[in-house]
Amino acid sequence: HQQIEESLRILNEFAAQYFHDALLQSEEGQTIGLSYFKERGFRTEIIEQFRLGYCPEDGSSFYKAAIEKGYAPEMLEKSGLCKNSNGRWYDTYRGRVIFPIQGMTGRVLGFGARILKTNEKSPKYINSPENELYVKSRVLYGLYQSRQSMGKADECYLVEGYTDVISLHQGGVDNVVSSSGTSLTEDQLRVIGRTTKNLTILYDGDSAGIKAAMRGMDMALAQSFNVKLALLPEGHDPDSYIQAVGASAFHTYIADHKEDIIGFRMEVGMKEAANDPAKKSKLVNEIAETISRIDKAEDFALQDYYIKQSSERLQVDEQGMINLVNKFIR
Ligand code: GTP
Ligand code: MN
Ligand code: MN
Ligand code: MN
Ligand code: MN
Repeated sequence: HQQIEESLRILNEFAAQYFHDALLQSEEGQTIGLSYFKERGFRTEIIEQFRLGYCPEDGSSFYKAAIEKGYAPEMLEKSGLCKNSNGRWYDTYRGRVIFPIQGMTGRVLGFGARILKTNEKSPKYINSPENELYVKSRVLYGLYQSRQSMGKADECYLVEGYTDVISLHQGGVDNVVSSSGTSLTEDQLRVIGRTTKNLTILYDGDSAGIKAAMRGMDMALAQSFNVKLALLPEGHDPDSYIQAVGASAFHTYIADHKEDIIGFRMEVGMKEAANDPAKKSKLVNEIAETISRIDKAEDFALQDYYIKQSSERLQVDEQGMINLVNKFIR
């Protein structure tokens, strides 16, 4: 296991450098990949900092270079960098721009690769397959570049995608990570929790974004995170929004729209419930269950705080709320 992990690490490092050089130094990389990034507003420093790259279109340039360097075909396959079809080898990420995914210490664990023009037939992003080195449930994109600032700010922003992390960094928000398409896992939260317990979710303002935020909420509360939420305006993600309005207006927007996540859930729920007692009762139960997940041993005051807040906002008796919460703890 350890030996495979080490081989994958060395191979990924080689690949990251190959793709990065292909982006900045080859003519194809410059005209296709680099122009793509520039059009998206990514400047050279940020391209360097995140070691962005490009995989040539022809189909097997990377494969050939890797074989020439002595890398074994089995490892190329295991890493997901190359694929074999009917005895022919080709590069999995050909014609795509590359986002190396680095671990806490900067090691390249895997890759995300984006198609330049989205279409129905191929996926927009391809990611490395699970292997000895790349364990999706533990990886957080941007952690390496953000960890110090997360500690200093004592806060971590959570966004949906690679380009959100990059654009926010470029705009001066450098305490930000992404779970990259998968819903947040307990392991990812544990990694964040070692640096800060203040988590601010920045998701799209659409229903999918709200749902995803709610899914992460209970898990985060169980780990005693203080969870805030700021939804982006309809149709925007953090990347498109900061590129559209600029860093300073972006900061103002977040400051104005950041709210407590349980508070947010109650607000949405109370609106939906309106004069429907069954809906309201369901909401009260749901919030009580959520509050019951807060680990009292880790943060004594937090559960009390939410019990008070929820009894007020849901207009139920405080002792009733306490009893209900305790029913879920048992
Ligand atoms: P851009 O379109 O480049 O701005 O990317 P985005 O991050 O805005 O993409 P989107 O909001 O659609 O998705 C969020 C994240 O989900 C992406 O950054 C990817 O990590 C992941 N994702 C999106 N599309 C796909 C896909 O087709 N396949 C896989 N495996 N992951 C995807
Ligand atoms: Mn470089
Ligand atoms: Mn969305
Ligand atoms: Mn986007
Ligand atoms: Mn997006």
